Amino acid sequence: MPRTRIHQKPAAPWWSTAVVYQVYLRSFADGNGDGVGDIAGLRARLPYLRELGVDAVWITPWYPSPMADGGYDIADYRAIDPAFGTLAEAEEMIAEAHALGVRVVLDIVPNHTSDRHRWFAEALAAAPGSPERDRYVFRDGRGEAGELPPNDWRSEFGGRAWTRVTEPDGTPGQWYLHLFAAEQPDLNWASREVRSDFEASLRFWFDRGVDGFRIDVAHGLVKDHTLPDLGIADDAVFEHEGGKEDHPHWDQEGVHEIYQTWRKVAESYAGDRVFVAEAHVREDRLPLYLRQDELHTAFNFAFLKSAWEPNVLREVIDRGVRTLAEVGAPPTWVLSNHDVPRHVTRYGRRDTALGRRDENGRPGAAATDRALGTRRARAAALLMLALPGGAYLYQGEELGLWEVEDLPADVLRDPTWERSGRTVRGRDGCRVPLPWSGSDAPFGFGPAGGEAPWLPQPAEWEYFSAQFQSGAPASMLELYRTALRLRREQPGFDSGTLRWLDAPEGVLAFERSPVLRCAVNFSGDPMPLPRDWGVLLTSDRITGGTLPADTTVWLWGGGAALR
Ligand code: GLC
Repeated sequence: MPRTRIHQKPAAPWWSTAVVYQVYLRSFADGNGDGVGDIAGLRARLPYLRELGVDAVWITPWYPSPMADGGYDIADYRAIDPAFGTLAEAEEMIAEAHALGVRVVLDIVPNHTSDRHRWFAEALAAAPGSPERDRYVFRDGRGEAGELPPNDWRSEFGGRAWTRVTEPDGTPGQWYLHLFAAEQPDLNWASREVRSDFEASLRFWFDRGVDGFRIDVAHGLVKDHTLPDLGIADDAVFEHEGGKEDHPHWDQEGVHEIYQTWRKVAESYAGDRVFVAEAHVREDRLPLYLRQDELHTAFNFAFLKSAWEPNVLREVIDRGVRTLAEVGAPPTWVLSNHDVPRHVTRYGRRDTALGRRDENGRPGAAATDRALGTRRARAAALLMLALPGGAYLYQGEELGLWEVEDLPADVLRDPTWERSGRTVRGRDGCRVPLPWSGSDAPFGFGPAGGEAPWLPQPAEWEYFSAQFQSGAPASMLELYRTALRLRREQPGFDSGTLRWLDAPEGVLAFERSPVLRCAVNFSGDPMPLPRDWGVLLTSDRITGGTLPADTTVWLWGGGAALR
């Protein structure tokens, strides 16, 4: 008799299918009325996030920071900025989120600190060649008197990636590297002390119950120590040059050793802790970050950058699923974040690809058809949420918010604006504080009578607030709520794979399980829906048994009943 063995598949860890909601803290909800979002505001809105149906929140940096780059310039990795609250409040927030079944992912920024970090002050006060300087990337300049930067690297925000310091004796001195703003000096990851200090910071927050970290600029930490010239002259603002072979400061082999160590730190804790990498690297290099002893997940930015075009998207999805399957990692989809123009706006333009920009660094300045962009955003949300793996939502996408492109120049805070000589407006347009309720600004963002929000909100957001949309069946908010509920309840979403189905030109159709299908119609022609399948959800109203243009449908069938 053949021996029977019962194979019990271990339950997949939560993060492999999680929907994570990105909280850009300063723009989420203001609890104390100073015009800036904070932990108190977030705590008050946790029930909203639970009702929305997300599995976790990712909170952008909440650490003490001079805010030269919205908090991505950290002065102390183990404390809370007073503008956001206190450590006690942070701990209570984590406990409250957990009590509601929402996990908490923090943002860690290991590539650079703030120039107000204690280490940088010590480096400036110390001599060239000192251990204090060795925590950063200090070098003598080129030229007769060291008056030229050590090499030609450029800051992501515009201008050169080097700033010259004044030595303690008052003379012009060495240069330090900053791949972002001058207030964000790059750390030297060859330093043992840097490494162990970051491990201590991870532990500090894991000890407080956080479920994971999003790793900022995960591909940037290690530099070719010979600092070779790149041979570039122009300002490449936010072009990550992911395609260049053997880049001297992106995607260096040495980063992997760091993440292997971090993985061990995570695994020394109970429960499933997760890392998600912001790694702008060539798609075929991404799996290297997700080997079993490294990070768990990484954003698929090809999906975010893709044009609203079926063949391109199919390719991107295919590659995203296939390449990560090689290392047994789930894909992680995302449509928007705090660094890119909101997708309602991107999709409302003739040229929807993120890669092409106008002179302002935003997608083509051509008029936006917001109705079209919204329709596509709804279809894109159902496409993304039907894919295997996890997904990240950016706060406000569930409200259908768009990029605010007419912010007055004097309110712009993104360092890109100044560093580009006021030619590139930067990312403030996707960071405008959320509308929660009411008919007048700040639309419930902060308490009545408080300071105005740190960026002004469009008057039309009265009709986009959470309160306004709540219970309105055709609203974006209700679409997200329903989609997230079905995704949780329907067994068809459990599988880690997808199978493409034959479909008419301009339609993407795939099966997630024998009982669950998804189809997106990108073509102008209505697509007849199969009669023997039930409609679970559509991104817009369907009439006459056909799927209209720019609409996604979830279908269930195969004789299976709804759970
Ligand atoms: C990442 C962040 C971005 C920040 C940069 C520097 O790309 O997402 O907001 O400006 O890193 O830390």
